[in-house]
Amino acid sequence: MIETIGVVGAGTMGIGIAQIAAQNGHQVILHDHSEEQLQMSKLNLEKVLLRLVEKKRITDKERIVILGRILFTPKISELWPCGLVIEAIIESVEIKHKIFKALEAIVSEHCILASNTSSLSIASIGAVLKNSNRILGIHFFNPAPLMPLVEIIPSIQTAKKTTDTAKKLIKKWGKTVVLCKDTPGFIVNRVARPFYGEALRIYEEGIADFATIDWALKELGGFKMGPFTLMDYIGNDVNFAVTESVFKAFFYDPRFKPSFTQKRYAEAGYLGRKSGRGYFHYTEGNRNSEPLKDKALGSLILNRILYLLINEAIDAVFMGVASATDVDLAMTKGVNYPKGLLKWGDEIGLDLVLKQLQELFDFYGEDRYRPNPLLRKMVAENKRFFI
Ligand SMILES: NC(=O)c1ccc[n+]([C@@H]2O[C@H](COP(=O)([O-])OP(=O)(O)OC[C@H]3O[C@@H](n4cnc5c(N)ncnc54)[C@H](O)[C@@H]3O)[C@@H](O)[C@H]2O)c1
Repeated sequence: MIETIGVVGAGTMGIGIAQIAAQNGHQVILHDHSEEQLQMSKLNLEKVLLRLVEKKRITDKERIVILGRILFTPKISELWPCGLVIEAIIESVEIKHKIFKALEAIVSEHCILASNTSSLSIASIGAVLKNSNRILGIHFFNPAPLMPLVEIIPSIQTAKKTTDTAKKLIKKWGKTVVLCKDTPGFIVNRVARPFYGEALRIYEEGIADFATIDWALKELGGFKMGPFTLMDYIGNDVNFAVTESVFKAFFYDPRFKPSFTQKRYAEAGYLGRKSGRGYFHYTEGNRNSEPLKDKALGSLILNRILYLLINEAIDAVFMGVASATDVDLAMTKGVNYPKGLLKWGDEIGLDLVLKQLQELFDFYGEDRYRPNPLLRKMVAENKRFFI
C-alpha cells in the first residue's frame, strides 16, 4: 500500500493533485523550487478548503486534517519516504530529466515515478532513469480535484506492475481511469482536435461566423460550449500551442494542421477571456454578433465537425491508442462531451458517417476527411462499436 505521495511542482496542477491525495488520506510531500509559489499555493488551497466547508462537502475538522497532511517544501530531498511521486513542473523535457534523475537518487527502488505531462512522451522522460520500469504518465485534467478523468499512460519501458498499481490507486481516489498508449495528445487532446480545427476551417471557408458555429454545436449538438467560446476560455495561445505540438508530434500529419486564423488571433493578443477579447468580446460596451439560427446550416456545421470527431475516435481505436470503451469515457469525462463519440457513431449509423466523410473527402481531396480504414471495415462487416 502506498502511504506517502510526492508531488513536484506546486503550480496549477500540482496543488490540485496534492489536494486530491490528501483528501484521500495520504501523507503528501509537495515540493517546488520556489518558496513564493509554495506559499501562494498553500494560501489558495486554504481558500479552496474553506469553500468546501461552506458548501458542507467537508467538515471544518476534516479541513484541518487535510491541510495537516501536506508538507510544503522547497527541499527535494524531503521526498524520500514516497511510494509514488507525480511530477507537475514546467513542460520541458530537459528540466523534467533533471528532476527525475534527482528523484531516483532520493526515493526507494519501489517508488513509482509519474509525470503529468500533456505533450511530452513518457518514453523520452523515462529515458534518463536507471530503472525506467517504474515510469508512467498520470495525466490529470484542469482543475484536477473537479475533473473526473485521469489518463494512465504506460510507456514502452513501464512494467505491468507499475501500471496496475497506479491504476488501482487513482481509481481508489474516485477518478475515472482510462488506459492509453504513449502517443501524442494521449486520448483527449488527440481526439478533440477537430472540435477546434474543423470549426476554424468552416469559419475560414466563410460558411458561418463564430456565433453561428457555436450555436450549432451547443444548441443542436448538445455540447456544453461551442468551439470558439471554449477556445476563448482555454486561451487562444494555449490552444494554438497544443495544436501545434500535436501536429509536430504526428510528423506533420495534415489531419492536425493548425489554423492561420487561430495563429493570428493569438499573435494579435486576442487570447480570449483572459485578455478581454478573443473570438468574442468580454468587456463592457462591446456587443457580440447574434448567431444565424438556421437549422439546415446548423446541422451541416454540426455534422461536419461531429463526423470528423467520430473518425478521429475510430482512429484512436484502430491505432491501439485505447479501447473503444476508454475512448468514449475519456471524451465524456475529460471534456464533457454529451455522448461518447463511438456510441454517437453507432446511433447515427456508421454507414451514414462513412458516406458523409467520403463525400467530404471526394470534394476536398484532403487527408483530414479520409474515412478511417476501421470505419470502412466495420461498415463492410455490418458491425457496431457497442451492442
Ligand atoms: N495547466 C493545465 O491545464 C494542465 C493540464 C494537464 C497537464 N498539465 C501538465 O502539468 C504540468 C504542470 O503544468 P501547470 O499548468 O501546473 O504549470 P504551472 O506553471 O502552473 O506550475 C509549474 C510549477 O513547477 C515549478 N517548477 C518549475 N521548475 C521546477 C523545478 N525544476 N523544480 C521544482 N519545481 C519547479 C514552478 O515553480 C511552478 O510552480 C505540465 O507538464 C503540463 O503539461 C497541465
